[in-house]
Amino acid sequence: MTFPATAFAIGTVALLLAMLTKQKWWWRIIHFFFVPLAWWFTSWGIDPVWYLFAALMTLTVYRGAITGRVPLFLSNRKTVNALSILIEERQGTRFLDLGAGIGSVVRPLARRFRSAHFSGIENAPATWLLGYVMTRGLKNCAWRWGNLRNAHLGEYDIVYAFLSPAAMPALWKKACREMRSGTVFVSNSFPAPGTEATEIIEVDDARNTVLYCYRI
Ligand SMILES: C[S@@+](CC[C@H](N)C(=O)[O-])C[C@H]1O[C@@H](n2cnc3c(N)ncnc32)[C@H](O)[C@@H]1O
Repeated sequence: MTFPATAFAIGTVALLLAMLTKQKWWWRIIHFFFVPLAWWFTSWGIDPVWYLFAALMTLTVYRGAITGRVPLFLSNRKTVNALSILIEERQGTRFLDLGAGIGSVVRPLARRFRSAHFSGIENAPATWLLGYVMTRGLKNCAWRWGNLRNAHLGEYDIVYAFLSPAAMPALWKKACREMRSGTVFVSNSFPAPGTEATEIIEVDDARNTVLYCYRI
């Protein structure tokens, strides 16, 4: 078989496997086109250094996907509105977003609740930098570089995480160890293992976001 025919044959097998394993439609498209596109790009004669450069640039955003199986995806406005209700319940709340991305949560909340204090911790260079620039003018928002595993959760009234199922077992143990009694741990989409949520908030958005809230 020629190279293009081989590439499409591999893509077809990958597509069939993706269908058999009931993967989402966009995964099926990725599986089908991945090898044919890899073949097509080699025919352009691009210097391999550019591929290395693109991979390194991708790492500055998606580092978490490799080191902890946590990629970047952002909380939406409706989720932020749902979190507002939790903050309204107490004056002067101290709120932490673990893996804060570009600040999609702490920025709007810090603008809305001037008497509360917000912190975000992030360890992917490009997203950290963008978040740093965008939160600079906010006096009640601390934007930190670092690994969420080293954050001390005992200082906060609400700790928010939007990570992945892989991150939850260790994080939940950490929350139980460090958070004070009466404070709230909120996980977007991924429940803490082996425990019942105190409250479940269903956000009325396109991705049917669920917030699992645990009162410590
Ligand atoms: C799913 S995104 C959520 C972003 C933001 N919290 C939001 O809701 O819009 C997860 C973020 O956690 C970051 N992250 C992953 N592992 C981390 C770690 N060990 N320490 C700090 N940040 C981490 C990723 O870089 C990514 O920006």
